[in-house]
Amino acid sequence: MTAKIINGVAVSAEIRKDLKVRVEALAAQRVVPGLAVIVVGNNPASAVYVRNKIKACADVGIHSFRYDFPTDADPRAVLDLISELNDREDVHGILVQLPLPPQFAISEILRTISADKDVDGFHLYNVGGLVVGNTVFPPCTPYGVVKMLEHEGVALEGKNVVVVGASNIVGKPMALMLMQHDATVCICHAKTRDLAQFTILADILVVAAGKPNLIVPQMIKTGAVVIDVGINRLPDGKLVGDVDFAGVSEKASLITPVPGGVGPMTVTMLLYNTVASAERRNAAASLRQ
Ligand code: GUN
Repeated sequence: MTAKIINGVAVSAEIRKDLKVRVEALAAQRVVPGLAVIVVGNNPASAVYVRNKIKACADVGIHSFRYDFPTDADPRAVLDLISELNDREDVHGILVQLPLPPQFAISEILRTISADKDVDGFHLYNVGGLVVGNTVFPPCTPYGVVKMLEHEGVALEGKNVVVVGASNIVGKPMALMLMQHDATVCICHAKTRDLAQFTILADILVVAAGKPNLIVPQMIKTGAVVIDVGINRLPDGKLVGDVDFAGVSEKASLITPVPGGVGPMTVTMLLYNTVASAERRNAAASLRQ
């Protein structure tokens, strides 16, 4: 069996086409969706991600506002900026790029962002919404994975899904979203003993561990759907995921590449959440008139 490759760039392009139509509809009501992006320090990976996010905003007609702080910034200055952005009419989404330097308490930063503008879906209110199955802003990476699976017609109900990685940004919200779709979900993490005994059972395997070649063909079931969320830079500069792509492609039915798989979907779902936020705010304002 040779797996079909899920093209994240193509799926993203379809979603972005729809978003442009929604942005035009908002423009007709004099609303331009706005995203504020806050960057602290000069993490090279963050610099690339933020550049991609800002470029993608321009592609669909979202206004972006970028704010840069030095690595030794006082967290108070960032908190003050967030409070100001919370009150701005032209800002519908606020994103603080992670990781942050050690003097920052991430939880304090995230809870200062208004839950109504939390397009990353990291505020506790939105995390709670995810737990009970009605969050306003689902976190972008797992949301992108769900959209990709939907696009490929992969049913989730009753499927065995194994998520490798239990981070707050990907693994945990991914598991909650899949449960909401009635999948049987197992979460593995760095302390899991004998990972293969779990992964071999997966109809759908989602890997977000940050370890190149963690998943090799012997660890997967023939015909499994394999979603690789990992982004790792090898010493030779090559970008790879967490899955042995060449080997696993021979055994899976569907697989995402790195790059060009989940990465573009993450950015697209950020745009999606920002447009949805502008629509919500506009609908609420129309009701008040
Ligand atoms: N750092 C790595 N991934 C993300 C993300 O999805 N959002 C933010 N804000 N920071 C990140």
